[in-house]
Amino acid sequence: MLASVYAPKDFKRLRVVGDLVARCFDYITPYIKAGISTGEIDRMVAEFLRENGARSSDLGYQGYPKSICTSVNDVIVHGIPSDDVILKDGDIVNVDLTAEYKGFHGDSSRMFMIGNVSPRARELVQTCQDALNAAIAVCAPGVPLSEIGKTIEAVVKPHGFSISRDFVGHGIGKVMHDDPQIYHFYDKMWDKVKMVPGLVFTIEPMINTGRPECKIDADGWTARTVDGGWSAQWEHTLGITEDGVTIFTEKMINEN
Ligand code: MF3
Ligand code: CO
Ligand code: CO
Repeated sequence: MLASVYAPKDFKRLRVVGDLVARCFDYITPYIKAGISTGEIDRMVAEFLRENGARSSDLGYQGYPKSICTSVNDVIVHGIPSDDVILKDGDIVNVDLTAEYKGFHGDSSRMFMIGNVSPRARELVQTCQDALNAAIAVCAPGVPLSEIGKTIEAVVKPHGFSISRDFVGHGIGKVMHDDPQIYHFYDKMWDKVKMVPGLVFTIEPMINTGRPECKIDADGWTARTVDGGWSAQWEHTLGITEDGVTIFTEKMINEN
């Protein structure tokens, strides 16, 4: 059940690839403005990874055709970058980037707000980031995995948003997707599974303005809300330490 448990020397590798993912986000951020296509963002990421000796974990995964996922407005996850999808004023977009470097994977996603975004959409994006941060803050050895979903629900519910149940966080490390599954809502099944030092996983809540259910486009990937409500997601790759948690997909500062 806890397949993704890693040694301290592996944590160093996970830190390096996580730093690379964070720096890639910082590189693309100034370009994510009205008028750019999601296809262009995909090419910028592909080039950044290539120049840094890394590769996209997504490209070719179960036939996935691009290097990142770009999910705009009502798309919950797995939007495929395209030159035909041009970001416009008022849009919200999730860029989800998983990279592999020297055999280890780092997986993170961020939201970007394009120009003048509606107050409710801003609230959606902010609440989702708050939910991720609150969930990270409870992670430590001995804490049940169910605390993650419980914490996310406590942040999200007062705002009247729903939590997507069709996609989960996951163990990660030498492979992109591993056990355990990480639920973003409370399920007592995870009460008995406790975090241990060395456990590496993602938390990646998706929250919607309307109903939680999704439908998949004809491309076989793009997951949209059934009711056209908008959706936000934030994601980090984390590791449980002896006394708490470390976020791999943030930039390394004064660390060696
Ligand atoms: N980055 C996604 C995740 O958070 C995985 C995308 S797999 C893809 O798990 F092939 F669809 F890109
Ligand atoms: Co991801
Ligand atoms: Co993930």
